[in-house]
Amino acid sequence: MKRVIEREFIGVVLLGPPGSGKGTQSKRIASWYGIPHISPGNILRDAVKARTSLGMKVQKAVQRGELVSDAVVCALREERLNEHDCNSGFVLDGFPRSIAQAVWLDVFLQERSLSSATRCGTALLVIQIELDEDQIFARLAGRRICQSCGAVYNLYAGPPVSSDLCDYDGNALIVREDDHPEVLHERLVEYTHRSLPVILYYKNEDRITSVQGSGTPEAISRRIFSKIKNQRWLRGAESRSGH
Ligand code: AP5
Ligand code: MG
Repeated sequence: MKRVIEREFIGVVLLGPPGSGKGTQSKRIASWYGIPHISPGNILRDAVKARTSLGMKVQKAVQRGELVSDAVVCALREERLNEHDCNSGFVLDGFPRSIAQAVWLDVFLQERSLSSATRCGTALLVIQIELDEDQIFARLAGRRICQSCGAVYNLYAGPPVSSDLCDYDGNALIVREDDHPEVLHERLVEYTHRSLPVILYYKNEDRITSVQGSGTPEAISRRIFSKIKNQRWLRGAESRSGH
């Protein structure tokens, strides 16, 4: 059952290596708190699939497992975060992924809060999901996605009812192009070089918390939800609504 609570701004950022469960957990947080789930990876893949001008521009980088340029990703974020449904919060899945993106996000939230008549907040709860490399490879080897509706399955941990067909629309499931082992290796290199420094950026300012990403999706959600509930900006609101 979805809970509607009177609360302040909830800005959650999920960081972690490929396959750590950012997408899986982002959907759960977004659904529970009624806030949008924003994933640059999904937007970029959709653009590549639809062969839009953005898709043509980013296709090579996405297929090779390299990061798309900061300018392109920040422009996309700005457009999306300025939409009305982000005023009370959002879950960012895999953004920021470079120091430039992290600095951009801080400045963007600061400026938006100063210029907006709404209650847009600036406080982010940054959560790092930790997972070792063996589990990353095992999970991504089993991932299948529905190209039509975007549903994500895992052949070992959460398979579809009928093998290789989507439970929701019956369309064929596929392996994500960047889940092939050589591309996955490149994504891990990018993560180490470009995205781990982002974790240090938040650590240096004491603005990040981490959760262990192994275990069932439900167990990981419990860890993440307890971090969210422990935030001061939520505690007051939840106690007012009796939770
Ligand atoms: P993106 O789509 O964000 O890929 P990623 O970060 O590599 O992460 P994944 O989506 O592979 O993994 P996930 O953590 O979401 O795991 P999931 O929940 O699916 O980015 C793709 C590309 O876009 C980048 O390479 C880059 O080119 C570009 N891009 C994106 N953001 C960018 C940015 N900010 N700047 C520049 N470029 C950017 O789970 C994985 C599998 O495990 C699934 O099968 C799932 O069902 C299963 N699973 C999940 N949880 C569990 C569990 N607890 N137990 C068992 N199985 C589980
Ligand atoms: Mg994902």
